[in-house]
Amino acid sequence: MISLRGLTKRYGDTLAVDDLTFDVRAGRVTGFLGPNGAGKSTTMRMVLGLDHPTRGRALVAGRPYEDLRRPLRAVGAMLDARAVHPARSGRAHLLAQARSNGIPARRVEEVLETVGLAKAARRPAGTYSLGMSGRLGVAGALLGDPPVLILDEPVNGLDPDGVRWIRRLVRDQAAEGRTVFLSSHLMSEMQVTADHLVVIGRGRLLSDTSMAEFLAAASPASARASVPDPEARSRLVRRLAAVDGVSVEAAADGTVAVAGRTAAEVGDLAHECGVRLHALSDVRVSLEQAYMDLTARSVEYATGTDDDGGRG
Ligand SMILES: Nc1ncnc2c1ncn2[C@@H]1O[C@H](COP(=O)(O)OP(=O)(O)OP(=O)(O)O)[C@@H](O)[C@H]1O
Ligand SMILES: [Mg+2]
Repeated sequence: MISLRGLTKRYGDTLAVDDLTFDVRAGRVTGFLGPNGAGKSTTMRMVLGLDHPTRGRALVAGRPYEDLRRPLRAVGAMLDARAVHPARSGRAHLLAQARSNGIPARRVEEVLETVGLAKAARRPAGTYSLGMSGRLGVAGALLGDPPVLILDEPVNGLDPDGVRWIRRLVRDQAAEGRTVFLSSHLMSEMQVTADHLVVIGRGRLLSDTSMAEFLAAASPASARASVPDPEARSRLVRRLAAVDGVSVEAAADGTVAVAGRTAAEVGDLAHECGVRLHALSDVRVSLEQAYMDLTARSVEYATGTDDDGGRG
């Protein structure tokens, strides 16, 4: 488990992290979201003892990072995948890390195999592609077989195979009871990877909730039905329009969009008024949309190219 209590970091005039209090629990993947400059990397650096909090504290398994005797065995991290001596081979880089943490050399061969770098292990790390550097970073994080993993944008630069590999890896790690804390800007990937979400904006906590609750809160029940017969379609629309708290709209393609009721409820109503349906489904908001709605007011570096006309 990772615990933050009132964690705060100020750089001159910039309040990078502002009074963050939350726990990252074991046995699930926690996604760390927030716009560019929100303070995600700074938070992770403080958890890893690479930056000192201005106020508050960050604990790993109940201790400050500095107090961990063999830190790589307690927490594995990848923050900046390119932060490797360019002339050193991938293997030499990992061997040095292993040695300083009392990890046997054969573990280096294991993780090189796990991340798919065994063939490139003797090449200087400076010649690695972006994705290969990412894989080396993940190898370093896995080296000590730690119960806690912290990965800052691990899918950055990975090919589709690599993205899928990271997804399976972190899901497996969480299923084994480990704590996994990862940031990413790829919302569709996060939606299928994370169980829990922590969202920050301008250094402050915006949300700390399960993926399911985050999505449900963003999208009240809504459904879409396909009704082949025009007369029946009008009947269903009239029936739904008479229900309190429901808004309903018939589209030219023969579908009926219903806000305020689930697919199950719409199905029951259709059955009651003898309306035959060809398709019926719940409409769920995407993580991307839910996230955009939540962070619209906290975006520091907005592009103004929002497709809904530049909210925020
Ligand atoms: N060493 C530093 N000195 C001064 N300011 C810093 C330093 N590190 C980070 N900051 C500032 O702190 C804020 C948070 O930066 P941080 O890198 O933590 O954001 P982030 O959420 O990781 O963003 P991104 O999604 O772009 O990676 C930014 O305003 C950044 O400019
Ligand atoms: Mg960052």
